[in-house]
Amino acid sequence: MGKYNFDAIVERRNTDSIKWDFGMKRMGRDDLLPMWVADMDFRLPDEILSDLRKRVDHGVFGYTDPGETYYGTVKYWYKKRHGFDINSKWIVVTPGVVYAIACAIRALTEPGDAVLIQQPVYYPFEGTIIANGRKAVNSQLVYRYGRYEIDFADFEKKIIDNNVKLFLLCSPHNPVGRVWTKQELLKIADICAAHDVYVFADEIHSDFVYKGYKHTPYITLGETYNQKLIVGTSASKTFNLAGLQVANIIIPNAKVNSIFRRENAANGYSQPNILGMTATGSVYMRGEKWLDELLVYLEGNLAYVRNFLREKLPQVKLVEPEGTYLIWLDFSGVTKDPKELEKIIVDKAKLWLDSGDIFGRKTALFERMNIACPRKILEQAMEQLYDALK
Ligand SMILES: Cc1ncc(COP(=O)(O)O)c(C=O)c1O
Repeated sequence: MGKYNFDAIVERRNTDSIKWDFGMKRMGRDDLLPMWVADMDFRLPDEILSDLRKRVDHGVFGYTDPGETYYGTVKYWYKKRHGFDINSKWIVVTPGVVYAIACAIRALTEPGDAVLIQQPVYYPFEGTIIANGRKAVNSQLVYRYGRYEIDFADFEKKIIDNNVKLFLLCSPHNPVGRVWTKQELLKIADICAAHDVYVFADEIHSDFVYKGYKHTPYITLGETYNQKLIVGTSASKTFNLAGLQVANIIIPNAKVNSIFRRENAANGYSQPNILGMTATGSVYMRGEKWLDELLVYLEGNLAYVRNFLREKLPQVKLVEPEGTYLIWLDFSGVTKDPKELEKIIVDKAKLWLDSGDIFGRKTALFERMNIACPRKILEQAMEQLYDALK
């Protein structure tokens, strides 16, 4: 029995939660069980909340910059959990990882330049490239025997053919749940280095890795690969702090670091959110036990879904995740019509999932489901799906 109770249901309605309060605005109805956005339904433990309360009770919230104490918490976490050392000078605090991707695109490429992605992938990658007037080039991940892999020949060809300047890597990969192996990452790194391509490694999901897998931080692949590297990290997924708006962007190369900082300043951004900094520092120093228990709970949620599908809905295939709390479900055994699938999920099952077509053009028969919720909510979601399909 753990110290923390992940079964507790926290009422999130009427808190301006985009997951729970915006069904009418975003979906035109408010009767759907929300299992979409990557946002967890768990309450943080008291030891973290008391650090936040202490800061709130101080009562003064003026401009605040990260100093060595703050950087120390980030360095402590990445050394302890991921085994690498960070120099404080490498860290740039931004209001988010997607914000940092947008900065990197503007700082490191010119309008019209090609930026590479691997679909199906977290949809703001493509959206941010296009919104900044760059060309999104896709090297499709290959779905083979229920697993996604990289087609390295295609990856390199796309770089050469389009004169790609920047690659947006998702590691671990949302939504397909791959935790890229060191060998895979080294192949990517070699290709990008050979063609002088900048890499933005979005490692926001790196703390969520299931038993038997290991996240390899891009920064550990070798000095030479760090020359054109930006790593996006944040406690916002790991500890569900997205509403507090703090990300730590790690840029080891001094020149790239200064180009990025210039773009960040050009956006008018300087001091981070004080409560976001307080929360990040607190979870990195005091949140480890909570996370370890959470990972066990998520393994349980995953096992529940795996068994449920096997026993009651074998026509829905789980793409076995190696990491992340987002599962990728293949509905091609249910219907070949994306519109019908949408009707089944929304009208019949009354579920709010992320439909596969937003992650890329070839995955309209997939759905992404967030399993970072109390087991009861997950059970309810699976029963609703069962009722819709039986
Ligand atoms: C791969 C990936 N990157 C970035 C984000 C969002 O990060 P932020 O809220 O810091 O912009 C998410 C959120 O789901 C994500 O899955």
